[in-house]
Amino acid sequence: MNFHVLTLFPEMVENGCGTSILGRAAARGLLSVHAVNIRDYTTEKHGHVDDAPYGGGAGMVMQAAPVCDAYDALCMRIGKRPRVLYMTPQGRVFNQAIAEELSKEEDLVFLCGHYEGIDERALELIVTDELSIGDYVLTGGELPAMVMIDCIARLIPGVLNNDVSAEIESFHDNLLEYPQYTRPEVYKELRVPEVLLSGHHANIEKWRREQSICRTLERRPDLLAQANLSKKEKQYLDALIEAKNSLQ
Ligand code: ADE
Repeated sequence: MNFHVLTLFPEMVENGCGTSILGRAAARGLLSVHAVNIRDYTTEKHGHVDDAPYGGGAGMVMQAAPVCDAYDALCMRIGKRPRVLYMTPQGRVFNQAIAEELSKEEDLVFLCGHYEGIDERALELIVTDELSIGDYVLTGGELPAMVMIDCIARLIPGVLNNDVSAEIESFHDNLLEYPQYTRPEVYKELRVPEVLLSGHHANIEKWRREQSICRTLERRPDLLAQANLSKKEKQYLDALIEAKNSLQ
């Protein structure tokens, strides 16, 4: 899978995506992250890519032409016109389901704005999806793009060492992950739960599912409506809710 990032700060993206698991996956040919400097596409003699907003107001607006020209040159180079994801707090809030959907694409373009945003005409002409990483405002789209690239990349087969861990973790089945323990058995008088030392796999599995359900109820009850629970697990959840209500 190929991630292309249109940005004014290519080194930020290259450094951020070039290390750790993403860097290793790129070295193994499982993915590529290519940053395109929008400034390379300005025809303005001082290299400016922004200008004052029509109608007045604070800040500067990124001009449409360098953004569209950077995208067109990219499309010429790769011979297709991939989806363009514009990083903006006005977009749909990114989540695991969106990551899974995007991971099916062969090429994705991330458009990162700065200053007071990008001329609306560039957005109209090239953007297919507007995405946000949450209800707060950042100085630019590079960090959101890196967050999304990291999340999508780990869904590509082979990027994580063990393929099962991408499936069992938080948000699979819309449940949070169960607690994990490793050696030693006792740390500062805190014991590892007995069931995990029992070697009884069915009991361990049951305990872990119950922990996931309990945690999700405590921390993210909004996820439970879409959780995939067996009849027994649903009964367990109902008992938890009842116990909680009787305490109030
Ligand atoms: N650009 C600035 N803030 C952002 C956010 N929260 N999500 C995506 N892009 C942004």
